[in-house]
Amino acid sequence: MTANTNTRNVKSRHDYQPPAFIISTVKLCFELDNTATKVTSVMQLQRRQAGAPLKLDGQHLQLLSVAVNGKQLSEHEYRLDDESLTLDTLPDSFELTVVTQLSPQTNTALEGLYLAGQTFCTQCEAEGFRRISYFLDRPDVLAEYFVTIIAPAEQYPFLLSNGNKLSEHIDSAGNRVVQWHDPFAKPCYLFALVAGDFDRLTERFVTQSGRDVSLELYVDKGAAAKGEFALQALKRAMRWDEQRFNLEYDLDIYMVVAVDFFNMGAMENKGLNIFNSKYVLADAGTATDKDYFNIESIIGHEYFHNWTGNRVTCRDWFQLSLKEGLTVFRDQEFSADMGSPTLCRIDAVKLIRTAQFAEDAGPMAHPIRPEQVLEMNNFYTVTVYDKGAEVIRMLQTLLGRNGFAAGLALYLQRHDGQAVTCDDFLQAMQDATAKDLSRFALWYSQSGTPELAVSQHYDAPSAQLTLNLSQHTPATTDQPIKQALMLPVQIELLFADGTKQQHLLVMQEASQQFLLPEIHTEPVVVWLEHFSAPVKLKADIDDRHLLFIAGNASDGVARWDAMQQFWSRKVAQAIAGNAVEDVLPEALVSMMASWLQQPEPDLALTAELLSLPDFDTLAEQYQQVPVDGILAALAGFKQLLAMRLREPLLQCYQRLPLSAYHYDQAAAAQRRLRSLCLHYLALSAVDATELLQQHYQSADNMTDTMAALAASQQAQPATFNLLIDDFAQRWQHDALVMDKCFALVASDPAEQVFDGIETMLRHPLFSWHNPNRVRALYSAFSMRNPQQFHRLDGKGYAALEQVVGKLDGINAQVAARLITPLLSWRRFDPVRQQLMQAALQRLANIPGLSNDVYEKVNRSLT
Ligand code: PHE
Ligand code: ZN
Repeated sequence: MTANTNTRNVKSRHDYQPPAFIISTVKLCFELDNTATKVTSVMQLQRRQAGAPLKLDGQHLQLLSVAVNGKQLSEHEYRLDDESLTLDTLPDSFELTVVTQLSPQTNTALEGLYLAGQTFCTQCEAEGFRRISYFLDRPDVLAEYFVTIIAPAEQYPFLLSNGNKLSEHIDSAGNRVVQWHDPFAKPCYLFALVAGDFDRLTERFVTQSGRDVSLELYVDKGAAAKGEFALQALKRAMRWDEQRFNLEYDLDIYMVVAVDFFNMGAMENKGLNIFNSKYVLADAGTATDKDYFNIESIIGHEYFHNWTGNRVTCRDWFQLSLKEGLTVFRDQEFSADMGSPTLCRIDAVKLIRTAQFAEDAGPMAHPIRPEQVLEMNNFYTVTVYDKGAEVIRMLQTLLGRNGFAAGLALYLQRHDGQAVTCDDFLQAMQDATAKDLSRFALWYSQSGTPELAVSQHYDAPSAQLTLNLSQHTPATTDQPIKQALMLPVQIELLFADGTKQQHLLVMQEASQQFLLPEIHTEPVVVWLEHFSAPVKLKADIDDRHLLFIAGNASDGVARWDAMQQFWSRKVAQAIAGNAVEDVLPEALVSMMASWLQQPEPDLALTAELLSLPDFDTLAEQYQQVPVDGILAALAGFKQLLAMRLREPLLQCYQRLPLSAYHYDQAAAAQRRLRSLCLHYLALSAVDATELLQQHYQSADNMTDTMAALAASQQAQPATFNLLIDDFAQRWQHDALVMDKCFALVASDPAEQVFDGIETMLRHPLFSWHNPNRVRALYSAFSMRNPQQFHRLDGKGYAALEQVVGKLDGINAQVAARLITPLLSWRRFDPVRQQLMQAALQRLANIPGLSNDVYEKVNRSLT
């Protein structure tokens, strides 16, 4: 079974009980103050279970008073502990008034009500509302909210909450008093409040049925110009959801607020999204193409939650993928339609093959619908989100786009205003399409990465192609026994005469044979086109055929994937002791040269075809990760390619035209290919310094600036040191750009990285209290610097251990996210294993360790 978490309160999915009371309306009044905010909550409750006590959740609160139907309770009429307020004898229907006090300023966890700089803001998902007031803090209690916010008028021009504004005035004491009402019943995790001073950008959106919606984006004073892109992205998302899924916005106002202190990317609070400023603010000088892409996709994501998450929400937190997997799928489809579907898919596949496969193979393995949870914050994972999205994508593949859209429409119509389960979702899909999804449902309960072994046999006399498929899911730490899953396997047959055929094979059993008749010559089979299922493919395709697929498949993702498979094999051969020169076929070099000479229409695809798999992708292919072998092989191949392809690289680099920065798909693709050329050229030594300097100096945008910095860091340390100093100097006042600087410094593959990190810790903009700053330094170090993180003297592991230990007392949620790279210690060689395990053990021994870190360390060591 799972880890020994018996000393702490682990919850199981099967223990779900409906609430004993429901709360139909809530009136909240906030009297804001940095250290003593008073919250008055007046709730209407109705009993749903005879005799049961009312147990309200609450943490880090000072209780000032409790009243039932207006009558104050004395202390012996309720029970209070660190986690709850319990009332025993209550009528069937009553009004409960609870007054509490809290200190936003000392709230470093950034859950509940906290201060982000001068701005008051809230974060309630998953269980943050209990830090604001005593409440039934669970997603299946849906209430109508009325909110009053009171704060000094001068200092707080904007007092925001969910829904529509009812009134605003300034009282005799000089306080601004604003009232809000959200007509849609919602769970408390969607509650939000913001108070501060901002620049406000506004827009209008007319919905497909002609309703006028006012869009408002709030950013730091002076940053208005950097909000324009996000605001336009919001309009695109709103239009797209109408066109693709016929879903329209439902309130008269939609607000987005950017704050610099935020644990995650953004939050879909009803009508009042709160965003990490990193996913809102952008201009050419400070944001990369990748940043622009992320902003559009996250703006879309949070907007799409308005239906998939808010109008229909989760019954309990085990159902998280119900809203997150589905909404990630929707944002991926949106991004694909706004830009390049191939590139979007490649990026999604990379994430699954690195982080998600690693999660399945490690101590935190869980199904997309987890079974057991100690700290819910630990389950906002790539499995729940991104594998969850893969599961939805498979449904669409199996049901067809129209069938899937019909299922989604039925689901939303049937459950509007309800808190439901993943089973309810599947039921709607099944009812709308009359397809049997019982085997498919296993994707929700089974963890682990299926391995799909495939082979082909061609019989010329009968003109028949036989395809043999077998699936096997290895045991995971949480679940020893696995069953066969329903797998949509998209294939393409490539014939010598240039013709092609597409087929969808639907696998339902452990082993299956598919017979394709009337195949008159033996084709090359492209397996798992578009990564049609999140599995590890085992196919014995020889080098020549892989290169043929890379050159000829219709699907760009399949072409890229063939190159990835090819390189994986070459890296394995190098690790086995072959010289890189000996395993690199001439055919490959000339193919890469021809791509450089005649790039694809999609230049970004060309860049991907020319890129080697990264360290993490390769690492996932080994039972025991050969750290040094992978690093040496990658360096060797890149160096060799840089030399062999120098001329075509240089020509391609110079041929790509330079124009003033603009973010669009074609321009971003051009920069991507140019950066790739620069990366290789930096390795070829000749003139590289000059080229890098010039690339850096002539850049009119952050994408090119970062490309020059990253390329020089890998190959030309002296140049890198010069450029990074200039960069740090130039952007010393811009926190979001300094994050890029921190991340670069921390990804330095040389030993000087430790001094670099020390220096950055003393930077005026660095703060242990700001998750963006901490992550910029330490996620980059532990996830993008395998050379130094995996040092054989343990210095890298110790650095991460110290940060996690320190951060646990400040922001446990962020600490627990940072620890991830240490958890998979069993995947490394004995020396590294021992070092990593010892670091985890020291963390486990910290007295008063948070549930967040405890759960992970404990699962990992057990
Ligand atoms: N629900 C948010 C999203 O996916 C993520 C989030 C979770 C934000 C928990 C904050 C806290 O859009
Ligand atoms: Zn989400």
